[in-house]
Amino acid sequence: EALLAPSGPLAGRHVLVTSGPTHEPIDPVRYLANRSSGRQGHAIAAAAAEAGARVTLVSGPVSIADPAGAAVVRIETAEEMKAAVLAALPADIAVFAAAVADWRPQATHGSKMKKGADGPPTLALTENPDILATVGRLGEGRPRLVVGFAAETDDLIANGRAKLARKRADAIVANDVSAETGVMGGPANTVHILTADGVEDWPTLSKAEVGRRLVAWLAARLEAAG
Ligand code: CTP
Ligand code: CA
Repeated sequence: EALLAPSGPLAGRHVLVTSGPTHEPIDPVRYLANRSSGRQGHAIAAAAAEAGARVTLVSGPVSIADPAGAAVVRIETAEEMKAAVLAALPADIAVFAAAVADWRPQATHGSKMKKGADGPPTLALTENPDILATVGRLGEGRPRLVVGFAAETDDLIANGRAKLARKRADAIVANDVSAETGVMGGPANTVHILTADGVEDWPTLSKAEVGRRLVAWLAARLEAAG
C-alpha cells in the first residue's frame, strides 16, 4: 500500500489544538478541574487532520478516543499545557478549545490531607497562565491564525469581544455554556464567530460539524491571507 502525500485544503500546514480540562492537584488524591469532555477540541483536531494538516493535539485528561491522524500530547495541569503548546510551535493555525482551570492551589500537599478537629481547610489559589493570550501576543513565532473559545453563561457577545481584544486572537468562537444548553459534555454546539469584522451566527450543529465548518473557515482565511 502506497503512502499518499496529504491532500486537502490544509495540506502542508501545521495545526495546533488544545482540548479537554486541566487538573490542578490539591494533594495526591484530589484536584481542581473544569467541566469539559474534550469533544469540541477533539472534533476540531480530527477535522484538521481530515483536511490534510499535520495536527498536534495537546489534551488534558479526557475519556474519549484520540482523533484519527493527530499527534496527541497528554498533559494534566495548565502549566504543563502551556509548556507543551510552546514546544509544539511553530504552527500555521492554533485553536484553543481547552477548558483551562483559571486557578490552581497555591501549594500542592505531598501527602493526603486528612480530616481533623480543625475543620475544613481553606484552599489558597493562584492564577494560571493564560495560554491563548501568551500565544496571541507572541511576536516572532505567532501562528498566522490564533483562535480561542469563549465559554460564557452571560453577555456572550460582549464578553467574547473583550476576550478577542485582550488575548489578541484573530477569532473567538463564543458559545453559551449555561447548564440548560447542554453544551458542556453534550453532542451539539451553537456558536458565534467573532472577529474584527463582526459576528457570524452559526446554527446549532453537532460538535463534529462545528469542527469541520471551523476548519473550512480557517483554511479559507489562511488562503485569503496569502
Ligand atoms: N484560555 C487559556 N488559558 C487560560 C484560560 C483560558 O488558553 N488560562 C483560553 C481558553 O482555551 C479559551 C479562551 O482562553 O480559548 C477563553 O477561555 P475562558 O475561560 O472563556 O476565558 P478566561 O480568559 O479564562 O476568562 P473567564 O473564565 O473569567 O471568563
Ligand atoms: Ca476561564
